Amino acid sequence: MIAYSDSVAGLGHGQLEGFFEGWLAPLSPEAHLRVLEGSDHVVLARDDGSGRVVGFVTAISDGVLSAYIPLLEVLPDHRGRGIGTELMRRMLEKLAGLTMVDLMCDEELRPFYERLGMQSLPGMTIRRHEQVGP
Ligand SMILES: CC(C)(COP(=O)(O)OP(=O)(O)OC[C@H]1O[C@@H](n2cnc3c(N)ncnc32)[C@H](O)[C@@H]1OP(=O)(O)O)[C@@H](O)C(=O)NCCC(=O)NCCS
Repeated sequence: MIAYSDSVAGLGHGQLEGFFEGWLAPLSPEAHLRVLEGSDHVVLARDDGSGRVVGFVTAISDGVLSAYIPLLEVLPDHRGRGIGTELMRRMLEKLAGLTMVDLMCDEELRPFYERLGMQSLPGMTIRRHEQVGP
C-alpha cells in the first residue's frame, strides 16, 4: 500500500534510495533529503510497510503569487500505477490559491500535465548539471 504525506519529519536518507534516474550527476540521498527539507511544499509517496519513499514532488513558492515545481519522480518499478498523478494532484491542491504555478518538462510529458489541468507555455532556463550546490 502507498501512503501519501506532506511532511519530511523523521525521514532519513536511507529511505531515499534509487532516485534521479538517468541524471548526469544524481543527487546523493543526503542531498536529496536536504532538497526535501528546503522546499516550501513536499508530497511523498511511501511504501507503508517499509517506510521507503517511492515517489516525491517538491514546490518552492513566495506564498503570495507564484510557485515552481522543480522535481517530480516515481521510482521506476512503481511507475504506471497512478502515483505520479496523485502526487501532482495533491501538490496542485496545496498550491490552488496561487496565480502562477509553473514547471518545466519534456515535450513527451505534456499530455501527463495537461490531464492535470496545466497548459503549455514557452519557458527559459539555465541548467548547470555539474553543480549540485553546497
Ligand atoms: C513522470 C512520472 C513522475 C510519472 O509517474 P507515474 O507514477 O508513472 O505516473 P502515473 O502512473 O500517474 O501516470 C502514468 C502516465 O504518465 C505518462 N508518462 C509517464 N512518463 C512518461 C514519458 N516518459 N513519456 C510519456 N508519457 C509518460 C503516461 O501517460 C503514463 O500513462 P501509462 O502508464 O498509461 O503509459 C514518472 O514516469 C517519472 O518519475 N519519470 C522520471 C522523472 C520525470 O520525468 N519526472 C517529471 C519531470 S518534469
